[in-house]
Amino acid sequence: MSLPLADRRILLVIGGGIAAYKALDLIRRLRERGAGVCPVLTRGAQEFVTPLAAAALAGERAHTDLFDRAEEADIGHIKLARRADAVVVAPATANLMARMATGHAPDLASTVLLATTLPILIAPAMNVRMWAHPATQRNLATLTGDGVRVVGPNTGAMAEAETGPGRMAEPHEIADALEEMLGTGTGGIGFLAGRGRAGPLAGRRVLVTSGPTHEPIDPVRYLANRSSGRQGHAIAAAAATAGAEVTLVSGPVTIPDPPGVRVVRVETARAMLAAVEAALPADLAVFAAAVADWRPAAEQGSKIKKDGSAPPALQLAENPDILATVAGMRAGRPRLVVGFAAETDAVLEHARAKLARKGCDLLVANDVSPAGGVMGGAANTVHLLARDGSVETWPTLDKDEVGRRLVARFAQVLGAG
Ligand SMILES: Cc1cc2nc3c(=O)[nH]c(=O)nc-3n(C[C@H](O)[C@H](O)[C@H](O)COP(=O)(O)O)c2cc1C
Repeated sequence: MSLPLADRRILLVIGGGIAAYKALDLIRRLRERGAGVCPVLTRGAQEFVTPLAAAALAGERAHTDLFDRAEEADIGHIKLARRADAVVVAPATANLMARMATGHAPDLASTVLLATTLPILIAPAMNVRMWAHPATQRNLATLTGDGVRVVGPNTGAMAEAETGPGRMAEPHEIADALEEMLGTGTGGIGFLAGRGRAGPLAGRRVLVTSGPTHEPIDPVRYLANRSSGRQGHAIAAAAATAGAEVTLVSGPVTIPDPPGVRVVRVETARAMLAAVEAALPADLAVFAAAVADWRPAAEQGSKIKKDGSAPPALQLAENPDILATVAGMRAGRPRLVVGFAAETDAVLEHARAKLARKGCDLLVANDVSPAGGVMGGAANTVHLLARDGSVETWPTLDKDEVGRRLVARFAQVLGAG
């Protein structure tokens, strides 16, 4: 059997991040899969790894300088930008992403990236706050809009004892994503985000809801819950990565929008239902939002004052049931409707009853009791219930990983249907 990247030549741009050491392992893995690797190191990258180490692992010269006369006469930046099948940027620093997004070319790496017409895959790696910064997210949106593919970042513990998205995808994930981009892989879950998508959900429309809802009491107060939106956002990101056209209807959250996804922001359950109906039709609808069951029966037009009398009684009215509404649609029902149940006790019992009551096809149940995993946290322990009565219990996983696995499962169900 021939190697998946046999006869492929990869220009590997290594940026100046702490994850640069993993780029050395990536060189090794790409070569194991048959590729030739031509390393280009930024000035910053050379603070973390040496051109000698990259060259030794690649088995060819590593390039570093734009204004090196010998190098320019020999191969030159334009030839470097052409003589390959793809460009991989790993780690893609915030700075490199900014240079790419703005067409800024002060050094060899960014000049080559501007001069190339080859497919580009970036593996961002940076501090959580750098990743979440609106400037980085803007640059990311520009790059995906330009057709650049993105793998990761993953969520997890980082160098500065912080946790969150920003950790570079693992070398094997980058190699898989590259194979997927070049169409040489054996087909897997689909790691890529970007335009011109391939993947197990290519050509599918996916609707995801996420986050809490806020139900106004008066102009300054509202009823809410502890949902962070992390799980719903991770599902939307994984669905986009798997090639789907994704609409995410999100309640108020503080996390960044997932890349490559159309986001509709709402506050209340009633606004969420309207946005969901407007976003249909879809092949797959995943209702991960923690929609408030009740809202104050009447929203006061001005702030309720504390006037020394007894506290006001809060009258509640029932909110529309978005999951049941969509699952029960006669015409235009999505082929696969997935509900979520956050429970604090008798998780499976309540989840089974909810699956039957709502009429959805699959139900993802999670334990949000203090013992099971606090609502809004980074990890999730889920049970997957199907209409045939089967239940799968997954180990506790990072929410991004839960999102990827769920999307792989949904793609399987849609593919088999
Ligand atoms: C110890 C250390 C670690 C760093 N890690 C990262 C990182 O992981 N991601 C990032 O975007 N920048 C990181 N930086 C900042 C970049 O090195 C800096 O923005 C640099 O200008 C990037 O240059 P380049 O994009 O040309 O490689 C780090 C800096 C230091 C000193």
